[in-house]
Amino acid sequence: MEPVLDGTVALVTGASSGIGAATAAALAAQGAAVALAARRRDRLQSLAAGIRDQGGTALVLECDVTDEQQAAGAVQRTVAELGRLDTLINNAGVMLLGPVAGAPLPEWQRMVELNVLGLLYCAHAALPHLLRAAGSGPRQVADMVNVSSVAGRAARNGNGVYSLTKHGVGAFSESLRQEVTGQYVRVCLVEPGATDTELASHNRPEILHSIRSQFGQRMQAEDIADAITYIVTRPRHVAVNELLIRPTEQER
Ligand SMILES: NC(=O)c1ccc[n+]([C@@H]2O[C@H](COP(=O)([O-])OP(=O)(O)OC[C@H]3O[C@@H](n4cnc5c(N)ncnc54)[C@H](OP(=O)(O)O)[C@@H]3O)[C@@H](O)[C@H]2O)c1
Repeated sequence: MEPVLDGTVALVTGASSGIGAATAAALAAQGAAVALAARRRDRLQSLAAGIRDQGGTALVLECDVTDEQQAAGAVQRTVAELGRLDTLINNAGVMLLGPVAGAPLPEWQRMVELNVLGLLYCAHAALPHLLRAAGSGPRQVADMVNVSSVAGRAARNGNGVYSLTKHGVGAFSESLRQEVTGQYVRVCLVEPGATDTELASHNRPEILHSIRSQFGQRMQAEDIADAITYIVTRPRHVAVNELLIRPTEQER
């Protein structure tokens, strides 16, 4: 059987580690040519080498998606070098937790700039290409997967601004879904629970300590990649709109 995504092109943001890296590898295994976007070129290059060793196609895009020009440039280079864009995995994100009182403002700015504005810049630049792919592509359908979080469903004490950004991703995704689903661009919101990646490591040491004691069981990045692969490989008439996925032992 032919891999389902043969002939399609996927752009994955935040592909240098964690969920993005695992998703890029999983989509490549399904036959998609993958564009890998993030700031750490060396990480992207080693992922690309692994994908090429398996017979896949990978394009390295060193970029900071919080910069509007660089986000648009990543989309443009994907289309220029791989020929089209069928799938955007809007995954790059940062989670800086802690009390609101006394929080360092630069942490809030980083989250809003990446989780909200970076995602919007990529969505804006990609949308015309996704609409074109849905009209003329091999599968006659295109996908935008926006990676939110359990924190995009429920705010908790200590995750105020991270939760704010992920709630915003949810609102935007549902509005855009309604706008473009009739044109066969499927917009899906993915809301992972605790997953073993680098995400928590960017927190201040005192916060990191409390995160470690809060979370027990974790999923692997490959578990979320598997869920995303399921979403984008559905037949044309099936749109998974939202997927909340937690480690079994995670209660909230
Ligand atoms: N892990 C979890 O428990 C969990 C739970 C719920 C939701 N999520 C969400 O899952 C997504 C992926 O996170 P992860 O867990 O895989 O964490 P991760 O391993 O820290 O990955 C984050 C990715 O974002 C990239 N990135 C950061 N700043 C960027 C920028 N300015 N421009 C381009 N790329 C940038 C990083 O690459 P560079 O540093 O190389 O740029 C990295 O590839 C995030 O949206 C996160 O909120 C994760």
